[in-house]
Amino acid sequence: MANQATSDPSNSIPASAMPRQGAGTLRTEHIGQNVLLRAWVHRRRDLGGLLFLDLRDRSGLAQAVVYPDEQPEAHQTLEAVRSEWVVELEGEVVAREKPNAQMDTGAVEVKVHRALILAQSDTPPIGVGDATGASEELRLRYRYLDLRRPELQQNFLLRDQVSLAARQYLHAEGFLDLETPILTRSTPEGARDYLVPSRVHRGRFYALPQSPQIFKQLLMVSGFERYYQITRCFRDEDLRADRQPEFTQVDIELSFVEEEEIYHLIEGLFERLFPLAGIEIETPFPRLTYAEAMARYGSDRPDLRFDLEIVELTDLLGATGFRGFQAAKEGGGVIRGFRVPGAAAASRKQVDGWAEVARQHGAAGVLTLRRRDGEIQFQVKTALNDAERQAAAEALGLEEGDLALIAAGPEAITARSLGALRLQLAAQYDLIPEGRHAFLWVNEFPLVEWDEDAQRYTALHHPFTSPDPRDLELLASDPSKVRSRAYDVVMDGIELGGGSIRIHRNDMQQQVFSLLGIEPQEAESRFGFLLEALKYGAPPHGGIALGLDRLVMLMAGAPSIRDVILFPKTTSATCLLTSAPSGVDAAQLRELGLELRHGQADDGDSQKDGD
Ligand code: AMO
Repeated sequence: MANQATSDPSNSIPASAMPRQGAGTLRTEHIGQNVLLRAWVHRRRDLGGLLFLDLRDRSGLAQAVVYPDEQPEAHQTLEAVRSEWVVELEGEVVAREKPNAQMDTGAVEVKVHRALILAQSDTPPIGVGDATGASEELRLRYRYLDLRRPELQQNFLLRDQVSLAARQYLHAEGFLDLETPILTRSTPEGARDYLVPSRVHRGRFYALPQSPQIFKQLLMVSGFERYYQITRCFRDEDLRADRQPEFTQVDIELSFVEEEEIYHLIEGLFERLFPLAGIEIETPFPRLTYAEAMARYGSDRPDLRFDLEIVELTDLLGATGFRGFQAAKEGGGVIRGFRVPGAAAASRKQVDGWAEVARQHGAAGVLTLRRRDGEIQFQVKTALNDAERQAAAEALGLEEGDLALIAAGPEAITARSLGALRLQLAAQYDLIPEGRHAFLWVNEFPLVEWDEDAQRYTALHHPFTSPDPRDLELLASDPSKVRSRAYDVVMDGIELGGGSIRIHRNDMQQQVFSLLGIEPQEAESRFGFLLEALKYGAPPHGGIALGLDRLVMLMAGAPSIRDVILFPKTTSATCLLTSAPSGVDAAQLRELGLELRHGQADDGDSQKDGD
């Protein structure tokens, strides 16, 4: 049916012969041309009759100007508009008298000669032009308006480019995009599952996948050889600035593969992706084993944008007369420290603050060694003699004006404490160069770690990760010393992705389940289908998953993962826009065979959030 004009102007968009032009695309080469814009009113300024409108569409911003004397009709129409109304304008592109170098389109403006209002807007609860005043809570409540902000839209334009380029790259490398189920069984990745009750089978539940891990391995057994999927994963875990309960992985699995090929594949992918955000990267990335990373940086995802490398001092200081150091060494612990250039003048209060950070990570505290005014001073004045202070300063590379922090105690605690202090000091002393990025691989993670609470071993990566063949003999005798074939790719201190070479033999998988305290019966009921599949010609295989949200967050330089997820959850896992999770009515529960313990749901709406 043909479009009929009605008296309501919002229903009568006259078919214009002209193609629509993106506001943000206007440049000097368009001067003299007539253009048609359909856009939002970003800002309106009325200079005594002369009307200036900043118009916004997905392509960007442009200024329009309406002269009341020359175009009285258009002027009359546009006089009424306010922020966020939607308008259609036709006009001529002209050179601006005073170009605005801040705007891409700042050399030109559109001199309007026809105007139509397409939609009106109530006064928006959050400013789109300037949202700095609005709380994050309000912005999430009106997320669809917040998403109009150009800075936020940029993140999603980037995200689109990243996932498209990833698909193109992986497709060219011979990978197939294959979809795995969302309603499935638990996939252990270390978090709690989100469960979905079954109506047909009362009392039974699907689990939403924490990752497609088992399915992608089954696809290797099926002979697809190279799989990828950009897919949603669900994990019920504590949320932070880089964690969401549902997030997206670029998930990859290959058959007949060793670590080297995976490193090369991902480095190639990053070489393709990062330039989309103007970030040039150098490959191959450096590599550290887990043991090296923990010893030298106190973290399994070290931030290598700055030095502050941790130095081993156990032998040197353990032999001194200072009781705290002796005890650490005798107890099988370590003494380590790192130098902070130019920090010798740190105040007592600062030092106390650092000791508190160390204590929060389980250490007894942290001690300072300073070199200033030609002297080397240890915090505990009489504890070390001249030669000992001198030797320690040398080992730490302490120069005039520097300070070193030293901690002593059990290895894991000391490493973690110094790792946390390293990050804190780098931020406090502004040691992270603007625009620098540092990638690395961390590998040779331990296969398992001892869980004190549960009194059993848990998998550090996941239970399908292959032990390092060099350590097979330790599997029975000293499991915590067994290294695995797992690897992480780290950028700027954030884990971007993780993966491993998998166990592809049934007997080895059973052995690892048993090491993890998963009884044969439980293994059979939870993972029987995988164990069975490993009996039918499972090829050697391995893979990796990248966190797409984290990747885009780092590429965009966004402070939070919420800035690159369209409709994110708050840190208490609620959606302020839809008020999910919500209660359900009694009939729905009955149908599912469920009953709430205390008759009613928690009032999730009253929870407040913040990072
Ligand atoms: P892993 O658990 O290391 O590995 O996850 C891979 C990557 O996913 C991202 N990620 C998250 N991003 C946002 N919010 C979260 N809650 C969240 N959890 C994880 C991280 C992480 O590096 N199946 C294995 C992969 C494999 O072995 O191939 C897995 O899921 O960037």
